[in-house]
Amino acid sequence: MAALELGPQGLSSRLDWREGLPLMVTPRVVLRELRRSDAPALCRVARSPEVARHSWPAPPTVEAFERFIEWSWAERAAGRYTCFGVVPRDSITAAGIFELRPLQPGFFRAELGYFIDKPLWGTGVLQDGVRLMADFAFKAIGVHRIEIRVSVDNARSNAALKKIGAQQEGRLRASFVHDGAYEDQYLWSLVNGIDHVAVPGTRARAEIAPAQAAV
Ligand SMILES: CC(C)(COP(=O)(O)OP(=O)(O)OC[C@H]1O[C@@H](n2cnc3c(N)ncnc32)[C@H](O)[C@@H]1OP(=O)(O)O)[C@@H](O)C(=O)NCCC(=O)NCCS
Repeated sequence: MAALELGPQGLSSRLDWREGLPLMVTPRVVLRELRRSDAPALCRVARSPEVARHSWPAPPTVEAFERFIEWSWAERAAGRYTCFGVVPRDSITAAGIFELRPLQPGFFRAELGYFIDKPLWGTGVLQDGVRLMADFAFKAIGVHRIEIRVSVDNARSNAALKKIGAQQEGRLRASFVHDGAYEDQYLWSLVNGIDHVAVPGTRARAEIAPAQAAV
């Protein structure tokens, strides 16, 4: 892996994320490009009832997850999507994901989505991950505004975003569906230069981690 330049403020804005996602590290967690070998663990987590309850349907099998991971590399290389694996510091396998989807061509606005395996809930991994993703989105991609949509009855995620410093902006009617029932979502945002989501003690470092080297 080739080390990237990092200033004291975190990620270098000169990072070309289309060539490969950086390795982003805090004392609690590593965010890195997905690997094909993450598929079994991610499939299990995504299909667990407590995660599936609040997420759009995930690929249904390990093989389908492998195809999703390969798709994520191609979309990243084309500049249309990014998906990081969430790896606890004492592990080598992803136990969750953070993804960014452009809401306009060029990523002026982007939607952040995530899920994390239940044993990691309440450990601070989510807060570190959102902070790193905001840093990455604003500095490396050039996103101006991150949006996050969360079902109104997803108390954990809504509480976590409030704690992190995201702004709750409104209620989107019938914007999610689960088991055939429509649900309202809260719209949350993080705006570059306005909202500050620094987590004390967190430092980002980055290394190019090409997908081909990480299979
Ligand atoms: C969303 C998710 C990542 C949250 O991670 P987490 O580690 O539990 O988050 P945190 O512990 O940092 O924050 C959760 C907060 O909610 C609080 N909380 C838990 N249950 C709650 C409830 N019923 N009502 C209000 N607050 C509640 C917790 O106490 C905690 O706050 P605290 O640290 O001040 O005590 C995890 O729940 C998940 O993966 N859910 C499934 C997928 C999902 O919901 N994705 C979001 C849609 S994009």
